[in-house]
Amino acid sequence: MNVYDSARMADVLAPLGYEPADSAADADMVILNTCHIREKAAEKVFSELGRLREAKEQKNRAGEPMIIAVAGCVAQAEGAEIRARAPFVDIVLGPQTYHRLPEMVARASRAGGVALDTEFPVQTKFDSLPPPGRVENHAAFLTVQEGCDKFCTFCVVPYTRGAEYSRPAADVLDEARHLAKLGACEITLLGQNVNNYHGAAPGGGDWTLGRLIRAVADIDGIERIRYTTSYPADVDADLIAAHRDVPQLMPFLHLPVQSGSDRVLAAMNRRHVSADYRRLVDRLRAAKPDLALSTDLIVGFPGETEADFEATLALVEEIGFIQSYSFKYSPRPGTPAAQMTGQVPDEVKADRLARLQVRLATNQERFNRACVGRVLSVLFDRRGRRPGQLLGRSPYMQPVHVAADDSLLGTIADLRIEASHANSLSGLLADTREVAA
Ligand code: 5AD
Ligand code: SF4
Repeated sequence: MNVYDSARMADVLAPLGYEPADSAADADMVILNTCHIREKAAEKVFSELGRLREAKEQKNRAGEPMIIAVAGCVAQAEGAEIRARAPFVDIVLGPQTYHRLPEMVARASRAGGVALDTEFPVQTKFDSLPPPGRVENHAAFLTVQEGCDKFCTFCVVPYTRGAEYSRPAADVLDEARHLAKLGACEITLLGQNVNNYHGAAPGGGDWTLGRLIRAVADIDGIERIRYTTSYPADVDADLIAAHRDVPQLMPFLHLPVQSGSDRVLAAMNRRHVSADYRRLVDRLRAAKPDLALSTDLIVGFPGETEADFEATLALVEEIGFIQSYSFKYSPRPGTPAAQMTGQVPDEVKADRLARLQVRLATNQERFNRACVGRVLSVLFDRRGRRPGQLLGRSPYMQPVHVAADDSLLGTIADLRIEASHANSLSGLLADTREVAA
């Protein structure tokens, strides 16, 4: 979502004459769009600000100004600390107020004081944002839902992104049509809890995510649809049916499970046990037999024992996740888990993470090898490193190399997969079909 938000900030600033610069040192303004989810991400902001301070001082010595802004969830959660630790920052803005950037830029350049805006305005930023300015590599993100009411005990998102909000379906469809016109053939619908989408329907009432996906699939030029991130307990029958019925919906689902231990899941306030998750995956696979799954996992949650961790390893093996974002538990200020007893020592977390990642890499390699000999559709989204080579993405997000010329960029073709490598595949063209631009 930060990638989407950063692009939208560029859209908001374009009418003022700003355009992306090649490096921070050359820029008139630098915006750090930040993440607060784990301590490491948040701390990176302050080290990055140290470097930017030098760049700003150098520019100032040459008589040129540089505006420094901190946006995103660290700004939301630690605005006061940023002002205290980094007084050379001109603008601090949360994720719900970036549509007001032009006013803040004007204020910062006029007054030279800090402009701080970390409100949750009643009128949403989406009502004030211009249409997206461009699409890169034929694929686009589209935020349909924001915020979270789930309050997993480890997570800052409900505090930094605020309560759940779904954009009206008509607005989402307008943006999707616009993205298709700009050349997007793949759209990823975004939300912290995207499958709890319940946006106002064009004819009154609400639409579910399943209904929204069907409408996006009807837009000319949209050949592929993905959505992320989903909360297992909120997956409904309508969404499962969309996996069965909508050919554009890719057979690859990111469905965070966090842990395989029911005791840990309860302490996390996840509202599902591992058997619920297994049943859900069975229902999804019954609807879409070639569905592959990726997930998020946390190791070393307070009180996690070796037996709890082994339950996670067993679930990873059983579901056969082909990809995972796995993390050491990071205590976050203001969250209930940070106060829990039984915090796990860092070396134990590191050891479990390493063992988990070995298991996940084995799954991924096994899945990649099993793709050899299959015909997969590939969206060619960029040039490869070597001349005469293109790089694309399979339905399962695997990078795929093929010998082909540039005329295939932005098209989807069937490839016969010839070989699997550590993190990618290579294939031969089986058949090419143009995607309507
Ligand atoms: N520590 C470690 N990982 C976390 N995540 C969220 N909060 C924390 C935390 N405090 C992970 C979860 C979530 C993903 C986006 O980040 O796995 O699904
Ligand atoms: Fe955080 Fe996701 Fe839990 Fe919401 S559902 S609190 S975003 S981990």
